[in-house]
Amino acid sequence: MPPPVLIAQISDLHIKPKGTLAYGRVDTAAALERCVAALNALLPPPDVVVISGDLVDTPLVEEYDLLKKLLARLEPPFLIIPGNHDSRELMRAAFPREPYAFSSGPLNQICPVRGLDLLLLDSSVPGQPHGLLDEPTLQWLDATLAVSSQLRPALLFLHHPPFATGIWHMDRQNLLNASGLAPIIKKHPRVQLVAAGHVHRATLTMFAGRPATICPAPNHAVDLDLFHLRDPSFKVEPPAFHLHTWFPGESADEPFGRVVTHWVPIGDFDGPHPFFGADGKLL
Ligand SMILES: [Fe+2]
Repeated sequence: MPPPVLIAQISDLHIKPKGTLAYGRVDTAAALERCVAALNALLPPPDVVVISGDLVDTPLVEEYDLLKKLLARLEPPFLIIPGNHDSRELMRAAFPREPYAFSSGPLNQICPVRGLDLLLLDSSVPGQPHGLLDEPTLQWLDATLAVSSQLRPALLFLHHPPFATGIWHMDRQNLLNASGLAPIIKKHPRVQLVAAGHVHRATLTMFAGRPATICPAPNHAVDLDLFHLRDPSFKVEPPAFHLHTWFPGESADEPFGRVVTHWVPIGDFDGPHPFFGADGKLL
């Protein structure tokens, strides 16, 4: 059986100008350095790292310059999508060689990785916190999904979740036209995962009949306030990323194989330690 395809997803890096803390408290550059070190330490290494938006915070040219310096240490190749804190123009200028599908406007991309297609959708709306997939993007998605074999699995990545999380102040700025995305996904069974960011929390649900995730952040988390108890807040919780693994199907029951998403904490932890001693017995 061929080895699984490993797609690491990191999200919401919020890089600030050098020496500046996010919200006066969070060193997002140091957090990204620890994240890059954790990704570089993965064995086997990921085939690719998808960065699902909010690469920088303001956005400023100097923030993208610092981001590029920090990402230069990342050993696996990476792909980028804008979030609401990004600028399409500054991203195009900072990363001019990305294979963007359009020469202007949304920064959509398709990236084939061995047996999989990764489709990166730009849900950003210039100057606005909420997300929207514009009509050219939706048409491009539908047409692109129709091109390859309908048995070739596709994973969709975008910044804004197309579903409500229950966190009131984030739900009013999620993907506002999820109803435009759902019929396209339903039309193409090869879509096996919808992976978002924006909320800085590991979250799992179903959308349009497919698994849908939100990637945790390497820095701070949005406070898990499901009852509007507090003003919008964040907490510095354990940093993490997602590792989406795709295994080719072994039976007719799994024509698209299987995507398994792992939550991977970032940090130095005790272990790994063996379960079994030299005599083969459980310790
Ligand atoms: Fe965001």
